[in-house]
Amino acid sequence: MTTSTLDLTGTAARAVHLSKVYGTGDTRVVALDDVSVDFATGQYTAIMGPSGSGKSTLMHCVAGLDDATGGSILIGDTDLTSLNDKALTRLRRDKIGFIFQSFNLLPTLTALENITLPMDIAGRKPDKEWLDTVIDTVGLRDRLGHKPTQLSGGQQQRVACARALASRPQIVFADEPTGNLDSRAGAEVLGFLRRSVREMGQTIVMVTHDPVAAAYADRVLFLADGRVVDEMAAPTAESVLERMKQFDGLGRRS
Ligand SMILES: Nc1ncnc2c1ncn2[C@@H]1O[C@H](COP(=O)(O)OP(=O)(O)OP(=O)(O)O)[C@@H](O)[C@H]1O
Ligand SMILES: [Mg+2]
Repeated sequence: MTTSTLDLTGTAARAVHLSKVYGTGDTRVVALDDVSVDFATGQYTAIMGPSGSGKSTLMHCVAGLDDATGGSILIGDTDLTSLNDKALTRLRRDKIGFIFQSFNLLPTLTALENITLPMDIAGRKPDKEWLDTVIDTVGLRDRLGHKPTQLSGGQQQRVACARALASRPQIVFADEPTGNLDSRAGAEVLGFLRRSVREMGQTIVMVTHDPVAAAYADRVLFLADGRVVDEMAAPTAESVLERMKQFDGLGRRS
């Protein structure tokens, strides 16, 4: 079993003995192998690991986008595995934000309309004050009327970040949010995500391959073969890179 615990003031999300198996027989893949991990409230966690190590699967399962094969997942006090489809959809909508690598904005809507779309669909009025805070933190005040094609990649991803945060979710998951951005635009997005943790108390879990991106986080979880194999607090780009080299070395020897 792999366990990860830090000093917690509260837990936004938790996986307990989580496993995920895809396929059967010859095509059987154990994507997650008995993973237990906590995501503390107000903490920024980066998840790293080789391609195929289970990073996206872990985030999708904890975010309720994919079924677990075994174990349990808690969002706050709610066990996802105890919910029916309708309740799960509602919980996802109200408590969870997701940022994808490919921004997933609607081209016909303005930046502002994209940001409020999930709440509009849910028939919920955005909290004006909170929305203003998010828009200012993301630095998009003067671009709200622009359509996605009129925005740079970094600005589009910041719109996607604002959309994920607008409903004030309990936790935000981001799967390689800077994967399609150049380093300057990536730094804008990462800076915003970190500010949302520092200034708004947001909880963020982010998958990345980039040690520089991971250094924005408060801790890094390292996955290999569907297990949490290490974790690092207060990461720097150098310390993360050093740790990745050790894993590479181990991989080559085995
Ligand atoms: N829908 C699926 N059906 C079958 N196997 C899957 C499916 N999704 C993922 N897998 C397998 O599960 C394992 C973990 O995949 P996952 O996408 O979580 O990896 P990852 O760490 O996110 O990789 P990457 O860095 O390439 O995005 C891989 O071996 C993958 O082939
Ligand atoms: Mg992935």
